[in-house]
Order: sequence, then structure tokens, then C-alpha cells
Amino acid sequence: EKIPVQIFKNAREGSESVARTIAALIREKQAAGKPCVLGLATGSTPKNLYAELVRMHQEEELSFEGVITFNLDEYYPIEPDALQSYHRFMQEQLFNHVDIRPENIHIPDGTLPKDQVKAWCLAYEEKIAAAGGIDLQILGIGNNGHIGFNEPGSNVNSRTRLIALENTTRLANSYEFSNMAQVPRLAITMGISNILLARKVILLAWGQHKAPVVQRAVEGHNTEQVPASVLQQHPDCTFVLDEQAAAEL
Ligand code: GLP
Repeated sequence: EKIPVQIFKNAREGSESVARTIAALIREKQAAGKPCVLGLATGSTPKNLYAELVRMHQEEELSFEGVITFNLDEYYPIEPDALQSYHRFMQEQLFNHVDIRPENIHIPDGTLPKDQVKAWCLAYEEKIAAAGGIDLQILGIGNNGHIGFNEPGSNVNSRTRLIALENTTRLANSYEFSNMAQVPRLAITMGISNILLARKVILLAWGQHKAPVVQRAVEGHNTEQVPASVLQQHPDCTFVLDEQAAAEL
């Protein structure tokens, strides 16, 4: 079963389209008096999307008052104010610029003592459930097909947990750090099963370098070796691509 795709001229147009989808969902939930629960991603891919949401907040009265967010992942260990932390990324790209309530922001904690990580991950999943589950999950995709930090081989039943990063992932992300040795070897990530539980999933991918993995995820076998390909079994998942990322479809 292939995954439906939407192809745009460039990342900006694709991001604007996804921002409109998110804004419509936020407003629909607001009108119904319900919270809007968003699953959010980091990396370079969603930057334009967050910038567009900030613009809509500033210019089109889009309010994040009723929005609850759960981020996919965070390096481990890492301090929240470290330059490369996903806490800092989210504050700078989105949260500092909109009216979201601080208590509605959830991001995996990179500062936990190791013996507390397991219990913390369970509690994270319980908070998602208590919020009513994720209405819309935003994803990027790693060159090896990872979603969140679910590296190849991650089980479809995997849950929120500590995971060892592949060296290719550490290398791909090393531009954020002063050198490869500084890139953490571990991360906390929501599992594949948590992602599959979201009611709607939108995966974004831009650029030629993502074309091969996008092709494998969309048209290849549904296999744990390409974590994004398991989205073939999700009932409401769309890949939003630019022409370059869609080049091998
Ligand atoms: C990172 C993140 C993922 C992200 C992916 C792609 O390591 N943990 O959530 O989707 O790798 O990164 P980028 O968007 O920079 O290409």
C-alpha cells in the first residue's frame, strides 16, 4: 500500500500548505471548546512550517491558547539550554513567539538520571493519553528512514524509550555541534507505536538528498528496516514533498 503524497514547487509552499492545515485544525478544536493536541518534530525540515505558524499568530490571530504539544524526541544527555537541544530549538523556532501556555509544552527530558528514564517515558505516554491522544503528528525523515529517533530496526510496537543513535545519524546531525565527538550517542524518542496512534500524520521532506529514502518509504516494502515505511499501515498519513524530494517516485 503506497503512502499518499502531495508535491509542491518548494519547501516554502509545502510548509505554508501544512501550516494552513494545522491552523484549520486549531480553529476547529477551538470552536468545539476542545484542546488541539499536536505532535511536533525538530530538525531543519519543519523550520519553515514553524515560521509560517508564527506569522499566522502575528498577522492572522491564530491562537495557541488551547494547543497542547508533545515533541517526538530529544538528545540524551543534554541540557535544555544547550545550543543543540530540541528544547531550545522549539523555544526559538515556535514557542517564544506564540501564546502557547508553558504548561502545555512537553518535550522529552535530556537531563534525567539514567535510572529514571523508563518511568519518565511511561509518564510521557500517560500524559499524551490524558490529553486525549495526538490529533496531528508532524514528522521529518532521516536519510536512513528514521522517524523521531526511531532508527532502522525499531519495532512497530516500540514505545517511548532511550535509543542508541546510528553513526550516520550522528554524522548527519553533527553540523549542529562543534565536532562529531560532541554529538550525543543516545536520545529519548517516542516509539513507532506512539506515532502510529496519532489520528493524522503528515511527514515533510525537502531536497534531493531525501529522494531515495522517500521513494523507499512510499513505494518500498513495509519494513522495520525503513521506519518511515511502516506509515503505509497508518489510515491517515500524507507525505508533503517538494519536487526534489519527490524526484524518485
Ligand atoms: C533528526 C530528528 C528527526 C528529523 C530527522 C531529519 O535527527 N530527530 O526528527 O526528522 O533527523 O532531520 P532534518 O530535518 O534536519 O533533515
